[in-house]
Amino acid sequence: MNLNIAVIAGDGIGPEIVAQARKVLDRVAEKYGHTIRYTDILMGGSSIDVYGVPLTDETIDIARKSDAVLMGSIGGDPKTSPWYKLDPTLRPEAGLLKIRKALGLYANLRPAYLFKELADSCPLAAREGGRKFDLIIVRELTGGLYFGERWTKEIDGVRTAQDTLKYDENEIRRVVKTAFEIAAKRRGKVTSVDKANVLDTSRLWRKIVEEVSADYPDIEVSSMYVDNAAMQLVLNPEQFDVVVTENMFGDILSDEAAEITGSIGMLSSASLNETSFGLYEPAHGSAPDIAGQNIANPIATILSAAMMLRYTFGLGEEADAIENAVRKTLSDGCRTIDIMPRGKDADLTGLSLQKCDEMGDRVCERI
Ligand code: IPM
Ligand code: MG
Repeated sequence: MNLNIAVIAGDGIGPEIVAQARKVLDRVAEKYGHTIRYTDILMGGSSIDVYGVPLTDETIDIARKSDAVLMGSIGGDPKTSPWYKLDPTLRPEAGLLKIRKALGLYANLRPAYLFKELADSCPLAAREGGRKFDLIIVRELTGGLYFGERWTKEIDGVRTAQDTLKYDENEIRRVVKTAFEIAAKRRGKVTSVDKANVLDTSRLWRKIVEEVSADYPDIEVSSMYVDNAAMQLVLNPEQFDVVVTENMFGDILSDEAAEITGSIGMLSSASLNETSFGLYEPAHGSAPDIAGQNIANPIATILSAAMMLRYTFGLGEEADAIENAVRKTLSDGCRTIDIMPRGKDADLTGLSLQKCDEMGDRVCERI
């Protein structure tokens, strides 16, 4: 198969972790007889430095013409980076929002599961019998507060700002459907998260969930208020299979879900439209504080590449090969610094510290 992949290495640790994911993809291509063509494109801070804007229309075009986009991370330290002196519409994050909207990537899939090798890193691990959860958050990605009308102005001498939360039924229906389709291939359970005791958009959201569920009689569906969902995620994450929610709630809950796995450096994500096209990126940010040190954890990006093979290219066996290699790498004791046990009583027996590029090599060796 010919794979045409646009690559946004991005800012901070982005280039280091993307290099590892490419190495792993190349290994898969070699083993299974595929040909990959990469096209490097700029977005975020690195695009600002070259073009003065975080994403050009030409870049969007190149992305659109590819089969999928592999992305590292974008953005810098808001306290020190000159990018954050620019107007908000010209900062690195604006590029990310623009590409999501321009390519219609309305469904953001963020799996969160506990690797048994890292179970001790789970902040909830103390519970008897340990924890064992495996959930996926399906976050609406091109609507709601992120894309509603917004302004800041002075009204009668009072500084005032407004953001707008708006959804129409079609925007809700398509992402809810995605969630049901995913649940049908997993444990058959959808939890829709809203704030229907307060918000009109949430009450419409609930109605649409009810309507869509009529087409999926085998899926167990329930709704939960977002405040309760935030609590349930730390109390009993095992209860969740597929969680579907609007953009802002999904942003917040997915960071929470990532953290309870022990390290946000392990979690992948996919942003999809109604075709097989997708943008694949780790769930974590650009970590400017450790950029250039070759110590970042590349696993989230490597697993994002696996999601790409599965969702965009339908290469399930190849995706399994990457995921199994990651698992094996961990069970063989290889650890980047973020997933090394810490503290004076930490047991390091059988563990070996790996640099970012070494971790990429360890995964490649196991494919
Ligand atoms: C994410 C990030 C982005 C978002 C930021 C960088 C704009 O937090 O992908 O979750 O809020 O969507
Ligand atoms: Mg976020």
